Amino acid sequence: MHASFTAKLSAEAYRMLVDLVYQHSHIRIGPDKQPMLANRLRKRLRVLGLVSYDDYCAVLRSAQGPDEIEQLVDLISTNHTRFFREPEHFTTLTGRMLPDLLPRLAVEGSPLRVWSAAASSGEEPYSLAIVLAEFFREHPAVDWRLEASDISHRMLAEAERGVYPLDPQHALPPELLKRYFQRGVGAQDGTCRVKAELRKRVRFQRINLFQAEYPVPRDQHVIFCRNVMIYFDPASRATLVHKLTRQLASGGFLVIGHSESLMGIRHDLESVRQSVFRKP
Ligand SMILES: C[S@@+](CC[C@H](N)C(=O)[O-])C[C@H]1O[C@@H](n2cnc3c(N)ncnc32)[C@H](O)[C@@H]1O
Repeated sequence: MHASFTAKLSAEAYRMLVDLVYQHSHIRIGPDKQPMLANRLRKRLRVLGLVSYDDYCAVLRSAQGPDEIEQLVDLISTNHTRFFREPEHFTTLTGRMLPDLLPRLAVEGSPLRVWSAAASSGEEPYSLAIVLAEFFREHPAVDWRLEASDISHRMLAEAERGVYPLDPQHALPPELLKRYFQRGVGAQDGTCRVKAELRKRVRFQRINLFQAEYPVPRDQHVIFCRNVMIYFDPASRATLVHKLTRQLASGGFLVIGHSESLMGIRHDLESVRQSVFRKP
């Protein structure tokens, strides 16, 4: 099959794939991405034993379709992330958001609820977990809960495993590395694993940001939804901001990526600083 695979992705099949990805995830694949899509799908076709993209489209239309669409979205989505990416968000969390929220939570006796809504392979929720664990060492009167979700099963499996290459790019200070990670030994040499105590603090689940209801508690105090809106069109972004706002407690914060903005979206949030918003 390798040698004989000369199939071309026709314009019609490409359109069908682009539409399906959009319907499922709201990710907009641009018109210039045909070679990228053909390339990424080639492997998948091989796994399924198919010899043409048209056969693949037929699978997508069959009873197997819904499961296969999830695989397709997994293949095309960008999952790039890293620990403490856009570090100002974490300093704004401890310097502004938590001091703002804490007195109320202490009076109400309720836990802080934080949600990493496009968690990818877990670096973002574990960075949040570390920051929260550190912060609440000093404020033991308030408990915290952390939700993490992504559309990709593959990314969620990685996130739940919590194993990462041990590299200096981590931006993790040595004392945090020691407190929250276990160094791999033997076959796992060169990696580190988030310690079980911290992994247990994060509840991972698959959530499509466009599904009707989110299976996380309402009244979230902080939602990180970073570096995913860029893949959506303006109408989808507006829908998403509306849905996330509904999920926030009043006084809660929404954090988006540095390169993202709410410009052109009608919303009810106050701007706290670039890419950080508060629900009044
Ligand atoms: C570039 S990563 C961002 C990771 C992390 N938030 C960060 O800023 O480093 C984007 C993630 O969004 C996820 N994603 C894309 N469309 C989604 C959707 N409709 N619902 C939920 N997650 C989605 C992708 O699977 C991917 O893991």
